[in-house]
Amino acid sequence: MLDIRDLTPGDGLACDAVMRTLPDWFGYEPGLEDCARAVRTQAGRVAVDDGEVVGFATWERRTGDSAEITWAAVRKDRRNSGVGTSIVEAVCEDLRAQGFRLALAMTSARSKDVVPTHDAYEETRAFWRARGFLFVTELNIWETDFALLMVRPLGPIAPAPQTPA
Ligand SMILES: CC(C)(COP(=O)(O)OP(=O)(O)OC[C@H]1O[C@@H](n2cnc3c(N)ncnc32)[C@H](O)[C@@H]1OP(=O)(O)O)[C@@H](O)C(=O)NCCC(=O)NCCS
Repeated sequence: MLDIRDLTPGDGLACDAVMRTLPDWFGYEPGLEDCARAVRTQAGRVAVDDGEVVGFATWERRTGDSAEITWAAVRKDRRNSGVGTSIVEAVCEDLRAQGFRLALAMTSARSKDVVPTHDAYEETRAFWRARGFLFVTELNIWETDFALLMVRPLGPIAPAPQTPA
């Protein structure tokens, strides 16, 4: 049975192994190194099945109002069976419980390759959209791809009571 529990620094190697099953999405070495750091230092959730980590997500505070889901991945052979949804819903619940009003995420809007190649991130964008993340804007902040900033309200959006920290 799938268990969605808190990420711990001891999960680092298992999360690295999940990432290595997804070269079509995560083939860029500096990105893999950034993720390796994130799974050892940031908060998050892991999906565990039969004692094995099959997926994870990490997150980091951005402002008093918002936190960003920095990395999310499900082992290649376990994709499209609800694992990612369970992880993202658990993380959004954690963020709501901690008082955040917005969950942010970034994914590839499109590659910067001049010659068009298969867009593995089409499914990824559909996944986030189906999980309630709205597409905000494209940003030119990455070397290989244009980034797509996405945001999901974690509850009703009313006037903020005070200036965020
Ligand atoms: C994106 C990613 C994290 C999503 O995780 P996932 O486990 O594959 O996603 P899910 O199975 O929860 O949802 C995908 C589809 O599976 C199906 N699904 C959802 N829950 C399901 C369930 N309980 N049973 C069977 N199928 C289900 C749905 O068709 C869903 O499509 P929808 O988005 O139209 O609802 C994962 O596919 C992945 O690691 N992709 C490659 C790396 C990547 O893109 N990471 C994110 C970078 S921003």
